[in-house]
Amino acid sequence: MVIEAFDRVKELQTLITSTEINNKEDLEAFRIEYLGTKNIIKPLFSAIRNIPNERKKEYGQLVNALKQLAEEKFIEIDQLLNAKAANQVEQVDLTAPAEALELGSRHPVSLVLNQMIEIFDRLGFAIAEDIEIEDDWHNFTALNTPQDHPARDMQDTYYILNDPRRLLRTHTSSVQSHVMMTQKPPIRIIAPGRVYRNETISARAHCQFHQVEGLYIAEKVSFADLRQTIYYFAKEMFGATKIRMRPSFFPFTEPSAEVDVWWGCETETDKRITKGTGWLEILGCGMVDPAVLVNCGIDPEKYSGFAFGMGVERIAMLKYQIDDIRLLFENDVRFLKQFKKTAVF
Ligand code: DAH
Repeated sequence: MVIEAFDRVKELQTLITSTEINNKEDLEAFRIEYLGTKNIIKPLFSAIRNIPNERKKEYGQLVNALKQLAEEKFIEIDQLLNAKAANQVEQVDLTAPAEALELGSRHPVSLVLNQMIEIFDRLGFAIAEDIEIEDDWHNFTALNTPQDHPARDMQDTYYILNDPRRLLRTHTSSVQSHVMMTQKPPIRIIAPGRVYRNETISARAHCQFHQVEGLYIAEKVSFADLRQTIYYFAKEMFGATKIRMRPSFFPFTEPSAEVDVWWGCETETDKRITKGTGWLEILGCGMVDPAVLVNCGIDPEKYSGFAFGMGVERIAMLKYQIDDIRLLFENDVRFLKQFKKTAVF
């Protein structure tokens, strides 16, 4: 009986050391066999009552060592298998060629906008930005367009619900008011940004689009400065050889003008886009009305300035011969992919 118990310990010792464990399943089987709730070492502990007292201690130590042997083997192999699994994940072929990353393309509006920013940067115009949810004063009143002014009808405005004094800016001219209120002349900025108008969406009009506003205020700024600035822009942007200025009206400028660039009238396309005239309208401009300067705290006796404003989508459509403004807002990749080659990074 006693001998049997000792032999059994030895037998299990050999078994534990010799059991081959190659994977998680083997390890689980081992755990159940030697460490589970019904493991085969357990009966050896209860068998201690049959061992004569003088050998009880020796026996107890052997059985404890047996249990420890099983536990250690389990831990060791568990760690080994885990490390192996982790290693497998990292076994990547570092020499394999990388998958090609497909480059996107810049949106035509961004392309044109970046080009505009670059052109005016060369003339020393800094960028000014401001809020799109604007108040009535900055968008209209400061710009010489008080509440009941008929010119307000020129731009259909989105007002914020239940707040007739808050609106989505209808033009980036609103940035002029902010800049003049917070900076001292000389001021030379362009204000690119998104604007909103309550228009029916069609091939020619959208309820949101982008504008670039320009403002130059200093001592003795003249209409000639305005003309030269616009001419430089037209030349750089379109390669235009000449521009013409037609008298126009804007509440915030006096005198005001609309500018056409000479496009040419040779091909059928030229004739179609210029309606047979060879001229294309690109922007509105004028000398800042002294009343606007006064509204924004600038002395009109000392300073004068010019301003201009243009639609970025319009310029992009002319430049890339896009005949439907909606294409610029749909994000159809088949359309956008065409601008890949022109992308500047
Ligand atoms: N704000 C005008 C618009 O939305 C564009 C414009 C015209 C801006 C003449 C100007 C300007 O600064 O002088 O149509």
